[in-house]
Amino acid sequence: MKSITWLVGASTGIGAALVNELAADAETLYISSRSADKLNTLAEQHSNVKVLAFDVNDATARKQAIAEIEQQSGRLDCIVLNAGTCEYVDLELGDTDLSLYQRVLDTNFHAPVALTHEALYLLRKSDNARIVGISSSVIFTPLPRSQAYGSSKAAFTYWLSTMAIDLKGEGIRVQIVSPGFVDTPLTQKNDFKMPFLLSPENAAKRIRKGIQRNQTHIHFPWRFTALLLIEGLLPLSWQHALNSKLSRNKSDNSKPVSTHTKSH
Ligand SMILES: NC(=O)c1ccc[n+]([C@@H]2O[C@H](COP(=O)([O-])OP(=O)(O)OC[C@H]3O[C@@H](n4cnc5c(N)ncnc54)[C@H](OP(=O)(O)O)[C@@H]3O)[C@@H](O)[C@H]2O)c1
Repeated sequence: MKSITWLVGASTGIGAALVNELAADAETLYISSRSADKLNTLAEQHSNVKVLAFDVNDATARKQAIAEIEQQSGRLDCIVLNAGTCEYVDLELGDTDLSLYQRVLDTNFHAPVALTHEALYLLRKSDNARIVGISSSVIFTPLPRSQAYGSSKAAFTYWLSTMAIDLKGEGIRVQIVSPGFVDTPLTQKNDFKMPFLLSPENAAKRIRKGIQRNQTHIHFPWRFTALLLIEGLLPLSWQHALNSKLSRNKSDNSKPVSTHTKSH
């Protein structure tokens, strides 16, 4: 039976590429993000794709979108939590504006957690429900400037794993996706070399295959994620020494760098 699927974070990058992959397996594919125009353009290419544009951090809009799916489809078989943002912490630039942490943690952790809890009653109406969370391989070993992004994805992965344990008895499957570098608007801002960079289309195909195979942890490309996973098994002091070579902040042996927060 074809599924009622909801892809949250579908307008660009991995999400936009996933629209084509997931639409093929869906009775109805609902697609969401803030950019209604981009979503409408994607939906025009498929007869079974419906647009629900909203900001995942808006609690009222989240509930309206869930009510819309309930009214139109009566159940939800699969929710793909892909919406995300990345901002780096630059200690070398001086004081860090702590609202950066708020923005990243809200979109990458608090919003998908809230959305899933709010939509759980609709997933429970399905005989074959699944939750797919797009996390990141950044959490396999601590990487420079990733304080906010890495923390949000580490929290998200832990939460997804806990949900997997607690929902197993009900037959609701939880799948965690940990991509390496994918060429999207999110990473096009990066000013460092990204090894094993994949196209969004390539990443989307791997995600679809992993979903179909019921893989609990979908991580790719394996040569990159295996390296990070192996490094993550080393003593933390070794990981810190290795990864500090990638850091821009070389002033640790000279003068301390201010980490004070702006008071305004
Ligand atoms: N690219 C990589 O190398 C990489 C690696 C590991 C993990 N990931 C993860 O993969 C996911 C997709 O990222 P991407 O690389 O494809 O980046 P992207 O092109 O920037 O896509 C992010 C998506 O999230 C949506 N989004 C962001 N904030 C939102 C909000 N407040 N409300 C609703 N939708 C929101 C964006 O749509 P609107 O702007 O239209 O709202 C967009 O559709 C993210 O969770 C990211 O952390 C990416």
